[in-house]
Amino acid sequence: MNIKALNGFKDILPGEVELWQRLEGLARDIFARFNFSEIRLPILEKTDLFTRAIGEATDIVEKEMYTFVDKQVTMRPEATASLLRAYIEHGLHVQKPVQRLFTIGPMFRHERPQKGRLRQFHQMDVEVLGSTSPRIDAEMMAMGAMLLAEMGLSVSLEMNSLGCPVCRPGFRVSLLAFLDDRHQALCDDCKRRSVTNPLRVLDCKNPRCREQVLEAPSLLDHLCGDCADHFSGVQKGLEQLGVRYSLNKFMVRGLDYYTRTTFEFITGDLGAQAAVGAGGRYDGLIEQLGGPSVPGIGFALGMERLVLLLQQKEAELPVSGVDLFVAALGTQSTHFGFALAHGLRTSGMRVAMDLEGRSLKGQMKLAGRLGAPHVLILGENELAEGKAVLRNMATQQQQEIVLQDEAATVQILIKIISL
Ligand code: HAM
Repeated sequence: MNIKALNGFKDILPGEVELWQRLEGLARDIFARFNFSEIRLPILEKTDLFTRAIGEATDIVEKEMYTFVDKQVTMRPEATASLLRAYIEHGLHVQKPVQRLFTIGPMFRHERPQKGRLRQFHQMDVEVLGSTSPRIDAEMMAMGAMLLAEMGLSVSLEMNSLGCPVCRPGFRVSLLAFLDDRHQALCDDCKRRSVTNPLRVLDCKNPRCREQVLEAPSLLDHLCGDCADHFSGVQKGLEQLGVRYSLNKFMVRGLDYYTRTTFEFITGDLGAQAAVGAGGRYDGLIEQLGGPSVPGIGFALGMERLVLLLQQKEAELPVSGVDLFVAALGTQSTHFGFALAHGLRTSGMRVAMDLEGRSLKGQMKLAGRLGAPHVLILGENELAEGKAVLRNMATQQQQEIVLQDEAATVQILIKIISL
């Protein structure tokens, strides 16, 4: 029986996982600089949560959700809805008027797998709940830009405003009139969307549709006074923080909950999967899900896409996860080395050891492959004389170590190796 992982589901193997850890470490560091706290959420939620939050007529809800039909539960396709469910359920708005939360983990969408698009993928998701200040929008984008810049990635930021329930209906009417004349030229999806969700026609990737909407009216010309003021506040904030951006009037986003500011971090280096992260404001959503009337804004970065970009840059991987390799030859040495390795690990050192009885040559090769900077060679004769040899793999220099009891030997080795 040869069972393989499901299509679109991927193992993250040693060698690559170090990049993920580095990415996650840097993100945690930056989220802490901006005073975000972590929240961990379940993977399975009631299907209704996503239908109501993301919208019935979105691709995610219509085609991509992993739903257990008999149980009415769904594996989360994104984190925002789950995070808001938890925020409402635990009354987090009472604890703090403005909550800054982040979560990192796998999401599930039944999309056609390709480079940078998986069925199980990972997001680093951040949300600020409780503020309408345009400065928060600017700060969120600045934080995303900082993270990407510190990873050494050059990514552009595109932004739009989707208005609010006051101004969007007026825009919808003029968009519908515009699309009416072009209905026949649209793709089948957009023919349907122009009835159910006409804004989505604006960001269809089909070249024919793109051509049709080139002259489409822009939401930015239809914003009500409050939304226009808010959007200009966001732009001023970005300028003040020195974050570069461009306006993209076609950006609609694939989830229905957005109001006002929406944004995407875009790369030219991943083919069709250009967005490495995206988000926006959703001022009515918490209330719509049965919570208090609290505004919110957030974004999520796609980790697979970031890792691909880092790999493309041939980012330097941390070579070694090991401080010392213990090479023991013979039964007595292995016996001694086994306990010594444990003592060193207890003291915090990263130690590898061969327990398969390989030759010295085989063990040195293994130590090299692991990138161990030092090898402690425990030979049978040397051990009988109370000695061992420590080799520095970079300089090839060797030094004799006088073996004492295990605890004292641990201290000697730690001292030499950490010099
Ligand atoms: P989204 O645009 O659906 O937004 O996803 C955010 C990011 O997740 C994308 O830009 C992409 O990098 C990554 N991503 C999405 N689908 C896949 C996939 N199938 N394979 C690999 N990566 C993928 C959201 O999910 C919103 N919840 C973001 C948000 C947070 N808005 C407000 N707060």
